[in-house]
Amino acid sequence: MKVQIDPERCQGHGRCYDLSPDLFTEDDEGYGRVAGDGLVPAGGERAARVAASNCPEKAIVLVEE
Ligand code: F3S
Repeated sequence: MKVQIDPERCQGHGRCYDLSPDLFTEDDEGYGRVAGDGLVPAGGERAARVAASNCPEKAIVLVEE
Protein backbone atom coordinates (compact mmCIF):
# COMPACT_ATOMS: atom_id res chain seq x y z
CA MET A 1 0.00 0.00 0.00
CA LYS A 2 1.07 3.56 -0.69
CA VAL A 3 -0.35 6.83 0.59
CA GLN A 4 -0.70 10.00 -1.43
CA ILE A 5 -2.07 13.44 -0.61
CA ASP A 6 -4.01 15.34 -3.24
CA PRO A 7 -2.56 18.86 -2.88
CA GLU A 8 -5.62 20.34 -4.56
CA ARG A 9 -7.82 19.02 -1.75
CA CYS A 10 -5.57 19.40 1.31
CA GLN A 11 -6.56 22.41 3.41
CA GLY A 12 -4.06 21.83 6.21
CA HIS A 13 -6.35 20.34 8.83
CA GLY A 14 -3.37 18.37 10.15
CA ARG A 15 -5.18 15.27 11.28
CA CYS A 16 -3.07 13.06 9.07
CA TYR A 17 0.26 13.94 10.66
CA ASP A 18 -1.24 14.16 14.15
CA LEU A 19 -2.80 10.69 13.91
CA SER A 20 -0.18 8.94 11.77
CA PRO A 21 3.13 10.79 12.11
CA ASP A 22 5.09 7.85 10.72
CA LEU A 23 3.34 8.26 7.39
CA PHE A 24 2.69 11.98 7.16
CA THR A 25 4.44 15.21 7.93
CA GLU A 26 3.68 18.88 7.38
CA ASP A 27 5.15 21.58 5.22
CA ASP A 28 6.04 25.08 6.41
CA GLU A 29 2.42 26.19 6.13
CA GLY A 30 0.86 23.20 7.87
CA TYR A 31 -0.26 21.37 4.79
CA GLY A 32 0.11 17.62 4.88
CA ARG A 33 2.93 15.87 3.07
CA VAL A 34 3.66 12.21 2.64
CA ALA A 35 6.69 11.18 4.68
CA GLY A 36 9.38 9.58 2.54
CA ASP A 37 8.20 7.75 -0.54
CA GLY A 38 4.73 7.08 0.85
CA LEU A 39 5.21 3.36 1.02
CA VAL A 40 3.30 1.99 4.00
CA PRO A 41 5.46 -0.42 6.00
CA ALA A 42 4.13 -3.77 7.13
CA GLY A 43 1.70 -3.18 9.97
CA GLY A 44 1.10 0.42 9.00
CA GLU A 45 -2.05 -0.14 6.98
CA ARG A 46 -4.36 0.64 9.86
CA ALA A 47 -2.62 3.98 10.51
CA ALA A 48 -2.96 4.81 6.83
CA ARG A 49 -6.68 4.06 6.87
CA VAL A 50 -7.21 6.02 10.10
CA ALA A 51 -5.55 9.07 8.56
CA ALA A 52 -7.50 8.76 5.33
CA SER A 53 -10.84 8.40 7.07
CA ASN A 54 -10.13 11.38 9.35
CA CYS A 55 -9.17 13.85 6.65
CA PRO A 56 -12.15 16.20 6.34
CA GLU A 57 -11.23 17.01 2.76
CA LYS A 58 -10.79 13.39 1.70
CA ALA A 59 -7.40 14.42 0.36
CA ILE A 60 -5.62 11.19 1.26
CA VAL A 61 -5.52 8.51 -1.37
CA LEU A 62 -4.67 4.92 -0.50
CA VAL A 63 -3.13 3.02 -3.37
CA GLU A 64 -3.37 -0.73 -2.98
CA GLU A 65 -0.49 -2.51 -4.68
FE1 F3S B 1 -4.45 17.98 4.60
FE2 F3S B 1 -6.27 16.27 5.28
FE3 F3S B 1 -3.91 16.13 6.36
S1 F3S B 1 -6.62 18.42 4.84
S2 F3S B 1 -3.16 18.22 6.42
S3 F3S B 1 -4.39 15.82 4.21
S4 F3S B 1 -5.84 15.81 7.40
